[in-house]
Amino acid sequence: MLDTLDISIQKVPSSRINEVDFDNIPFGKVYSDHMFIADYEDGQWSDLRIVPYANLSMAPASSVIHYGQSVFEGLKAYKNNDGEAVVFRPDANAKRLNRSAERMCIPEVPEELFMQAMTELLKVDKDWIPNKENTALYIRPYVFAMDDYIGIKPSEKYRFMIITCPVGAYYSEPVKVKIETEFTRAAKGGTGYAKAAGNYAGSLYPAKLAQKQGYHQLVWTDATEHKYIEESGTMNIMFVINDTLITPEASSTILKGITRDSVLTLARDWGMKVEERKISITEVIEAAKNGTLQDAFGAGTAATIAHIKLIGHEGVDYTLPPIEQRAFSNKVLKAMDAIKLGEAEDKFDWIYK
Ligand code: COI
Repeated sequence: MLDTLDISIQKVPSSRINEVDFDNIPFGKVYSDHMFIADYEDGQWSDLRIVPYANLSMAPASSVIHYGQSVFEGLKAYKNNDGEAVVFRPDANAKRLNRSAERMCIPEVPEELFMQAMTELLKVDKDWIPNKENTALYIRPYVFAMDDYIGIKPSEKYRFMIITCPVGAYYSEPVKVKIETEFTRAAKGGTGYAKAAGNYAGSLYPAKLAQKQGYHQLVWTDATEHKYIEESGTMNIMFVINDTLITPEASSTILKGITRDSVLTLARDWGMKVEERKISITEVIEAAKNGTLQDAFGAGTAATIAHIKLIGHEGVDYTLPPIEQRAFSNKVLKAMDAIKLGEAEDKFDWIYK
């Protein structure tokens, strides 16, 4: 257990916060004044520091650039109705970072280091946490390989960083998705369950092809048969068919989303029938055709709930029920917001102040 961590703090001479239009925040383009950095060398994390947000200087041969040995997290801080800064389930992100790190041969970031670094950074940049509806301070912790070595092996040096950015909505509208049956995001035994940088790089090209066809994102299917639904875009995917909430079971190819877990926990708490299991393309398309598909949405930190308005499969587009009729996803989104804002009881202990 690390009791107190010695984090040095160098503040900016003058804040950039007045340059930000908080009524109109894009996702992921504006960064707050400071960032956290720790370096890993000789088997330990040291030189913990909060410094002004600035470009990095690194060796052109840095292994992360060549081989993508890098993992990341995403979580959000909010201002609750009492004006306090709160973070949603950061302990879960700290744990998942280390599950991803293990898969990528990256050293563990002690949970106390993760929590204290994030807490100190938020104290310094607390004014950057927006308080308008549908806004948050997105927190991006990440660890990457720093060896100046072009051979391929696990790096010996790493950097753990946290940057933050005030964000608005991730998607500006409900999404149109296409079921992908040629390209694959993740295969059994691969890195799909890890939040590894390369997973996202590999998803860009198939998504770009779908975007050319007028879709916003893809629905990924299994690598073996392309028969079963896995995820959507960068998110977990959920369906309500009849009155049952169904989502693909967590496996080596599916990221164990924290929003996913929160949605499932709330649904079970409300007594809803919840199934984590294989769900085939055929089942979803049949339900869309016969009108039993009540709801479909992506669940992830960036978007929280991304309603799916249309699903494309084999050249046919299936339009889903209007968003205002989506009883479950609207209710769960409201419930999560209420917990974050302190309007509802935090009965699952999700809020970190
Ligand atoms: C998320 O949906 O939370 C993500 O990881 C999105 C991120 C790639 C921007």
